[in-house]
Amino acid sequence: MAAKIEDIGACVFDAYGTLFDVNAAAAQCRDALGGKADELSALWRTRQLEYTWLRSLMQEYVEFWQVTGDGLDYALAVLGIEDDALRQRLMDIYMRLDAYPEVKDVLTALKVGGFKTAILSNGSPKMLSSAVENAGINEVLDDTFSVDSIGIYKPHPSVYQMAVDGLGVNAERICFMSSNAWDAAAAANFGFRVVWVNRFGQPQERIPGDPEQVIQTLEALPPLLGL
Ligand code: 2OP
Repeated sequence: MAAKIEDIGACVFDAYGTLFDVNAAAAQCRDALGGKADELSALWRTRQLEYTWLRSLMQEYVEFWQVTGDGLDYALAVLGIEDDALRQRLMDIYMRLDAYPEVKDVLTALKVGGFKTAILSNGSPKMLSSAVENAGINEVLDDTFSVDSIGIYKPHPSVYQMAVDGLGVNAERICFMSSNAWDAAAAANFGFRVVWVNRFGQPQERIPGDPEQVIQTLEALPPLLGL
């Protein structure tokens, strides 16, 4: 298979929504949430991300675990759900979110194919190590970069610079994957070669930066790289 994306030294992945299923926590609590599960998950994810952007602009960084809890509290309040046990259950699941089904095989294929692999995420180190261990992908990842080491969230350019510095690979030789369209755009604007994993069939964002390729799941990634 001819590579469509050539001269790549490292494959770097966003975590939540790309490797790990951000909707899995609410889905696994559908017994308690009933018809509100999907709405809770959407409200939770939206506020979680909005709080990262607001806190970066306010220069009021706290780690992603705190922001994740704050976003959940907002979502529960909107839906009128007051249940501490359910909140704890949702957060416990979030600490060990399921990986999407194709993730381990794709990371394994990239390692066999000679690529460096890494995660670059808003997630805190504890969250990411827990999710990586739960998914059994530690052996097929060379590194994990958390914004916690620089105290500002995506899409600030210094986040993407962490992967360049940490891997010792120039931006134009890093292939970056994200399901979050705004993250994919910002990474392309920074200078990565970007594959947008459009899992949720969303339209492209109207912000600077265009992904080079768009796929639906990560299964389509190895052939793009000539594997
Ligand atoms: C991540 O950084 C954006 O939540 C996404 O993993």
